Amino acid sequence: MFRLGVRTFATTARRAAETIAQMEAPNQYGIGVSKAQGIVKGLTGAIGNTPLIRLNHISDATGCEVLGKAEFMNPGGSIKDRAALYVVKDAEEKGLLKPGGTVVEGTAGNTGIGLAHVCRSKGYKLVIYMPNTQSQGKIDLLRLLGAEVYPVPAVAFDNPENYNHQAKRHADRLDNAVWTNQFDNIANRRAHIETTGPEIWHQTKGKVDAFTCATGTGGTLAGTTRYLKTVSDGKVKCYLADPPGSVLHSYIESGGKHVERSGSSITEGIGQGRVTDNLQPDIDLLDGSINISDEKSIEMVYRCLDEEGLYLGASSCLNVAAAKEVAEKLGRGHTVVTVLCDGAYRYADRLFSKKWLTEKSLIGAIPKHLEKYIVLP
Ligand SMILES: Cc1ncc(COP(=O)(O)O)c(C=O)c1O
Repeated sequence: MFRLGVRTFATTARRAAETIAQMEAPNQYGIGVSKAQGIVKGLTGAIGNTPLIRLNHISDATGCEVLGKAEFMNPGGSIKDRAALYVVKDAEEKGLLKPGGTVVEGTAGNTGIGLAHVCRSKGYKLVIYMPNTQSQGKIDLLRLLGAEVYPVPAVAFDNPENYNHQAKRHADRLDNAVWTNQFDNIANRRAHIETTGPEIWHQTKGKVDAFTCATGTGGTLAGTTRYLKTVSDGKVKCYLADPPGSVLHSYIESGGKHVERSGSSITEGIGQGRVTDNLQPDIDLLDGSINISDEKSIEMVYRCLDEEGLYLGASSCLNVAAAKEVAEKLGRGHTVVTVLCDGAYRYADRLFSKKWLTEKSLIGAIPKHLEKYIVLP
């Protein structure tokens, strides 16, 4: 009886192992079922662990492995879900936020969307301040995600009425409320030291030669650089990718001597006028900076769509353009990783509009054979 039981168990275990092996092996369409995440506890468990996509055309053209971290696959649709989760968790751990509390942030973009998802799933209220120059679409989106939104006059950071300062004052007025302060709250950078960096190292099995991405708050670049430099004993080369209008390119290339701002950019969520607290601890670890023009970023939006099948926002495509330049600089046989921050969905009315491209003098940057994607008037 017992022997029979053991044999039955062994057979069942063998079958189970075989079944798992079968699930791991990709089927004829290239899909391995076991790569799907298991059951996660609520929305926040679905943040991170994004795939690393080989950009086939750029990889083949450069002779390198050029890989993009698919951050548009986070539940809120962008890299900022990671920072949103970490700033909220940090406030909880410090006892600043208790059940039923309120999160306040100054943001016009993806951080607000990430925070809205995290706050809803954890039962917190969310208050967002943003410059009143932002589109009604952004305000509507945050409101329908449950946030209370205050569009306020767009004034410079040193003016006390700037949206960030108003957000801080709002939180100060309430009990059980926190201003998450994404630019200078280093819980943002920690998200990338503890998740993005280790994921890239694990996914490439330590075979990563270079990393590059742009900065808004600097959390992604700083945290990922810190982790990759530490785990590789400084071997992974890390580069800032910077749009026009940001001071960081001149700062890094001059060894901290100059802060020159020239031009402006169509990219959203990136470009910085100062060294934030998130970037400060790691800026000296960087090996250099790559300046990417809007012409190169917009061309890459169309190329990623046409050649890679990836529908990406302009900051992602600036990153891809920088990764291509890093690959060309390092030469064949290297692995270069970058970040695909979000999709093109929120920007489609501009990026694929003939009128907008003409107004921005970018229509000439779209290669002739890709003009078919300019489908909006
Ligand atoms: C689309 C997009 N790309 C890139 C970034 C920059 O990320 P980080 O704030 O970690 O520097 C942001 C930040 O808001 C963003 O919204």
